[in-house]
Amino acid sequence: MKAIRIDEFVRDLATLSPKDVPSPKPKGPRDIGVQITHAALTHVDMLYAQGLHQNNGRHVKPPFILGNEFAGIVTSAPPSSSLRPGTRVFGATLGSFAEHIYADENGLREVPKQWTNAEACAVGASGAISWGSLVSVANLKRGETALILGASGGLGVMAVQIAKALGAKVIAVVGDEEKARMIKSTGADGVVDYHEKDWENKVKAMTEDGQGVHVVYDAIGAVESGLRCLRYRGRLVIVGFAAREGKMENIQANRILLKSAMVHGYRFGEDGRQDPTRTEEVWNGFMDLVVKESIKPIIYKKNYVGLESVSQALIDLGKHTVWGRAIVRINEEAERELKARL
Ligand SMILES: NC(=O)c1ccc[n+]([C@@H]2O[C@H](COP(=O)([O-])OP(=O)(O)OC[C@H]3O[C@@H](n4cnc5c(N)ncnc54)[C@H](OP(=O)(O)O)[C@@H]3O)[C@@H](O)[C@H]2O)c1
Repeated sequence: MKAIRIDEFVRDLATLSPKDVPSPKPKGPRDIGVQITHAALTHVDMLYAQGLHQNNGRHVKPPFILGNEFAGIVTSAPPSSSLRPGTRVFGATLGSFAEHIYADENGLREVPKQWTNAEACAVGASGAISWGSLVSVANLKRGETALILGASGGLGVMAVQIAKALGAKVIAVVGDEEKARMIKSTGADGVVDYHEKDWENKVKAMTEDGQGVHVVYDAIGAVESGLRCLRYRGRLVIVGFAAREGKMENIQANRILLKSAMVHGYRFGEDGRQDPTRTEEVWNGFMDLVVKESIKPIIYKKNYVGLESVSQALIDLGKHTVWGRAIVRINEEAERELKARL
C-alpha cells in the first residue's frame, strides 16, 4: 500500500511523499482492519515528522507511518467485535497517512449517522480531549466564563462548542480576522486577537465584573497570560504548547499563589493508559453532546486530495493559514460506493 513513512526525521516538510510500504498486520487479537478514506492533519503530526515531540524520545521513533487521526470503513474484525465489516468508523492511532490501518477496538468509534467520514475525521479525538479538559479536569459549570487559547485550532474549535453546550460564556483567542469570523460562527461570545498588545486586559474587560474568567483552556502554552486573565480561585488546564516551538515557558509560581489558582495538566493518551475508565467516561460525555447535535465539525476550506497532498497540508498548518482541521481525502470514492450499496 501507499503511506507517508518516516524513515528518518525530516527538516523540510516539503520532502514528505508517499512510498510503497508493506500492508499493515494486526498487532493484537482485538485489532480491527480499516480502509482509510480520510486523515486529519494535526499539530502533533508536524512535530512527529521532525522529531520535535516529547513522544519522539521513547514511543515514536523511525521507521513509522505518520498521521494520528482518520476515518474509514471496517474491512476485518474479530467475531467478538460489535464493529462489522462495512461499518464507517473514526479513530486515533499512529499510522493514519496510509491506505489501510489496524486499530484496537477501544480506539475506534462508529461515525454518527449525521456525519460524513470527513466530518468525523475533523472531530477525531479533539472533542474527547477538549471535553476531558473542560469537564473532567476544570469542572466548567453553566454560567461561568471560559477562555479558550488556540480557539481556531482542531482542539480549540471543539473546546468552544463544548463550553457553549455546557452553558458557559466563551471568549476565544485567535490570530486573524478570518479565524475570528469562523469561531464566532461556532458560538463564541467574544473574540480577541492575540496580536493585540495587552490582549489579556481586553479579555478581562469582557468578563461581567471585570475580575477575569473562571476557566482557562490553554492549547498554546501561555500559562502566564492565562493566569493574568483568570479570576481569584480560577482554574487553568494546560492542554498543549502550539505556540511554543519546542521552548517551554518558565512561570513565576507566586502568580498561582496570589490568585489561589488551580493549574492542572491533561494528557489524554497517557490518561487513557493509566485510567481507561475515566477516558471511557470522557468519550461518553462528549458523544452525548454529539447525539444532541451540539457539535459541528469544522473542516478547513482548502481541498487536499490524496496522500501526495499531506506535505502541502502540513506546510499550510505550519504557516498558520489553517483553521479547524485540514482533511486529506485519501479514498472518498470508497465511502461513496459504500453509501450507494446501502
Ligand atoms: N493534552 C493532550 O492530550 C493533547 C492531545 C493532542 C494535542 N495536544 C496539543 O494541543 C495543541 C493544539 O493542538 P491542535 O491539534 O488543536 O493544533 P492546531 O490545530 O495546529 O491549532 C493550533 C492553535 O494554536 C494557535 N497558535 C499557534 N501559535 C500561536 C501563537 N504564537 N499565539 C497564539 N496562538 C497560537 C493557532 O492559531 P493561529 O493559527 O491563529 O496562530 C491554532 O489555533 C498542540 O500543542 C498539540 O500538541 C494535546
